[in-house]
Amino acid sequence: MNKSPDAQRMEKIVSLCKRRGFIFQSSEIYGGLSGCWDYGPLGVELKRNVKNYWWRVMVHERDDVVGMDGAILTHPEVLKASGHVEGFSDPMVDCRTCKARLRADQVIEKKGIRQCPNCGGRDLTEARPFNLMFQTQMGAAADESSIAYLRPETAQSIFVQFKNILEVSRKKLPFGIAQIGKAFRNEINPRNFTFRSREFEQMELEYFCRPEEGMELLEYWKEERLKFYENIGISRDRLHVKTVPDEERAFYSKGTYDIEYDFPFGRQELEGVAYRTDYDLSQHQKASGKSLEYFDEETKQRFVPHVVEPSAGVDRTVLALICGAYSEDEAPDEKGKMETRIVLRFHPRMAPIKCAVFPLLKNKEPLVSKAQEIVNFLRPHMNVFYDESGAIGRRYRRQDEIGTPFGVTVDFETLGEKDAALRDTVTLRERDSMKQERVAIKDLASILSARIS
Ligand code: GAP
Repeated sequence: MNKSPDAQRMEKIVSLCKRRGFIFQSSEIYGGLSGCWDYGPLGVELKRNVKNYWWRVMVHERDDVVGMDGAILTHPEVLKASGHVEGFSDPMVDCRTCKARLRADQVIEKKGIRQCPNCGGRDLTEARPFNLMFQTQMGAAADESSIAYLRPETAQSIFVQFKNILEVSRKKLPFGIAQIGKAFRNEINPRNFTFRSREFEQMELEYFCRPEEGMELLEYWKEERLKFYENIGISRDRLHVKTVPDEERAFYSKGTYDIEYDFPFGRQELEGVAYRTDYDLSQHQKASGKSLEYFDEETKQRFVPHVVEPSAGVDRTVLALICGAYSEDEAPDEKGKMETRIVLRFHPRMAPIKCAVFPLLKNKEPLVSKAQEIVNFLRPHMNVFYDESGAIGRRYRRQDEIGTPFGVTVDFETLGEKDAALRDTVTLRERDSMKQERVAIKDLASILSARIS
């Protein structure tokens, strides 16, 4: 059967990710660990750029948000109070024929008969709840008292530390606590590359407020989050806001939006923005017996704050960036013949490497030493890559394929051999337009910094 253009595109993306060192299957040499991924040299840079920019706009550029970094191992009482131990599950069905374990919503129904989507078998178990949390044991004893969980979301440590952070930060409502970190879910069917993983990272903000501010702040944060995606280069056309209907919303939420993205495998959730009312703090207050109330000095009232939560996935954002950036166009090769060029059109702010520096020839010492001088001069400002091997066109192509937005070439003009006026200037090439301009070496750092910040 012919694959759809979207399926082919996704295959090319997955293959590029491996070939160029963005993302590898975890434990690949042992056959792979399902639902787990390792980020290679370029993937880790891209991921860091996403997280750093999120932290910049959500924490550093605001007066009303502070950060925290909580433990991954979580006390069982925290997750009992939050409802995860009891209710964080997906309905699961087993196929007795091919032994596949399926999420109940993946089972096909034909003329009222349930069928396995893998083998077509009809001998399926009834749906039963499957808790998605990873349980582990802490300490030497192997009994009930030693159970701990790997956190299924970063949010709970924020709620549990609410009082401590309120006291040390001396913030007044409304204010937020932000966290970026790993979360773990034993997904029944991890799939679509990194989209549904068992180990992933979240970027979460819990924004505490007065009850009457909740609905307005839900709208505010939805808009802020859409701006974030546009500012990292995700096209607005591919983003969609779904208002989660009452019957799909958590019972305590008064409103939830899903921000969705058009991946090659379909429109899927990137982030949830939820008004969670006072549910979480109230639950922890009840279960711990410790007050999590806020005292309003103006009105002299004491109450449990409400919360609006924008919760984004790092891995899904990285995947959306790669899927959106992947493109193929035509460019001339060394002999002027047109060939297909693979380009990752990352926003310069997100690109793993910002600038590649090339000496025109590797066997001309003055060109090489000038290029290395430029690398050293740019390094404190940005991630730079030096490459002297192969024809210059090939070197450009290698950088286009990993999304490097700028290329600097040191040539004989740079040495002032042809025209003294061009001494200490270089060609600066832009990835998408492939246009070249001549700029002075002394201006390079400021020109590039302005374009990547
Ligand atoms: N604290 C709220 C919360 O965790 P969620 O909708 O379950 O809400 C928030 O998760 C975000 O975390 C999702 O929008 C998604 O980006 C990311 N996420 C959730 N499960 C994931 C998985 N299995 N693999 C990758 N990312 C995931």
